[in-house]
Amino acid sequence: MDKKTESCSKNSPLLELRNVSVVKGGKKLLDSVSLSLNAGEHLAILGPNGSGKSSLIKIFTKEYHPLAGKAESSLKLMGKEHWNVFELRKFLGIVSGDLQQTCARPIPVLDVLLSGFFSSIGVYYNHKITPEMRARALEVLDFLELIQLSDRLMNELSSGEARRVLIGRALVHDPKILVLDEPANSLDLKGLYSFRKNVRKIAASGKSIILVTHNLEDIIPEIDRVALIKAGKILKDGPKEAILTQKNLSELFSLPVRVGKAGGYFWAWA
Ligand SMILES: Nc1ncnc2c1ncn2[C@@H]1O[C@H](COP(=O)(O)OP(=O)(O)OP(=O)(O)O)[C@@H](O)[C@H]1O
Ligand SMILES: [Mg+2]
Repeated sequence: MDKKTESCSKNSPLLELRNVSVVKGGKKLLDSVSLSLNAGEHLAILGPNGSGKSSLIKIFTKEYHPLAGKAESSLKLMGKEHWNVFELRKFLGIVSGDLQQTCARPIPVLDVLLSGFFSSIGVYYNHKITPEMRARALEVLDFLELIQLSDRLMNELSSGEARRVLIGRALVHDPKILVLDEPANSLDLKGLYSFRKNVRKIAASGKSIILVTHNLEDIIPEIDRVALIKAGKILKDGPKEAILTQKNLSELFSLPVRVGKAGGYFWAWA
């Protein structure tokens, strides 16, 4: 990359989608979605079941591809339209429910973190683990206050513990953005508390967080921007206080919704 392009990339948003649409099986999952995220910014993407939240994440990971040939459509990471899987891994750390199911195997926690370096599930004979990788995995476990779980097997952990270990796996590459897809599903109060504590610590460390959820309570106080997604379209995008109103949420969920807030958290009930 030449110097001019590189300096341009540094000033660009971390992530920028313009008019991105996705069609699968004849169905439009995303419809002209535009969204950008600057360094250090935290964003919650809130929408009902089936609104296209996970599909949006799959665009970033190249599992789904934007509809080709659409005028003015683009998808850039740090100003670049083209990137390879290796660059992507260093850029985005993703934790999803799908990943947790895949990782529920008798694999020691430390190996789960190390496998993050190889995008595998577990460590195999052909993986060359360097002392630096091991030190980094231990550093991340320590940061997340999970070091005592290092030798435990992944399939013997509670949901909350396993979820936090997967955050650790996503962090080994020191990505610029941590993406959490429905992170708090099935966690009890204590699990939720420990999980949020970790995510808040990561948000405060300077990484950007993209949190995808249908649940307002998942939105930690550090996230001050919310985008509402419905039927594959971005309905609203802006400051949390202005977006999480009864009017907007009633429109989002297509039913009368009331909103409460306390201690930097919001919740809703129908
Ligand atoms: N590969 C696919 N082929 C066909 N339809 C799909 C495909 N992937 C997703 N869909 C459909 O697209 C819609 C959006 O799915 P998506 O998983 O993005 O929703 P979501 O907002 O993440 O929902 P949830 O809150 O339930 O996780 C759903 O109706 C889903 O059935
Ligand atoms: Mg989903």
